[in-house]
Order: sequence, then structure tokens, then C-alpha cells
Amino acid sequence: MLGRLNHVAIAVPDLAKGADVYRSMLGAKVSAPQVEAAHGVTVVFVELPNTKIELLEPLGENSPIRAFLEKNPSGGIHHVCYEVEDILVARDHLKAQGARVLGDGNPKTGAHGKPVLFLHPKDFCGTLVELEQA
Ligand code: CO
Repeated sequence: MLGRLNHVAIAVPDLAKGADVYRSMLGAKVSAPQVEAAHGVTVVFVELPNTKIELLEPLGENSPIRAFLEKNPSGGIHHVCYEVEDILVARDHLKAQGARVLGDGNPKTGAHGKPVLFLHPKDFCGTLVELEQA
């Protein structure tokens, strides 16, 4: 069912500093910041030859990454995103096995304009998993 690793998302308290670490220290190609109001984050994309790293900074008081940053004040890996061919087939397959889908269970449009879903970390080895229809 799982396809490629689409990205690893890292929550950061300061997006400009995080982007500079990847651009200046690590010599990576880093995009301009993109506001994702529906997801409560501002994001930059770090392009690697085989995948992407997304740096996420909280946007707004109700940002879903705010609590994570309170527990991890210097930042940390927030989720991994795997590609699937058909997100509804994947969702129904996982739900039938007892996995918990976050939110109302319906895909939202992610940062790349494609449908995404998040899965409960307790069902996936302690890691928040995002599925994206490739
Ligand atoms: Co993501």
C-alpha cells in the first residue's frame, strides 16, 4: 500500500532560523515560506534529491503544532508523510484494521495541493503519519 516517502516534517520555533540552518549550514535548496492557514502552519520546503524536508512554524493560536513545540521547545520531527495511490482505499483499509484517522476522517488538501490524512501516532509506532495521494 505504501509508496514513496514524500517528506519528513520538522516543527521549529523560528522558521527563518530553521531555514537558515538548512540553507547555510547544510547547503540545501530551501523554498520561500508558504502560509498554510487551513493547517495552522507556515512551511518551507527543503528539497533533497530523493525526498523533501518540511520545516513547520506555528501559525495562529490554535496551530496543531503549538503543543508539540511546548514539549519540544527547540523543535523536533513532527510527522512522516507516505504516498499512497488512493487515499480513500488506504483509509478504509486502515480503519477496517482498527487504526484511528484524525479529524473527521475525510481528506484535506495538503501543502502540495493533494489530498492528505493524518493517522494516530499510537497506532503507528509512536509516529504521527500523514498519507498523501500521489
Ligand atoms: Co506533512
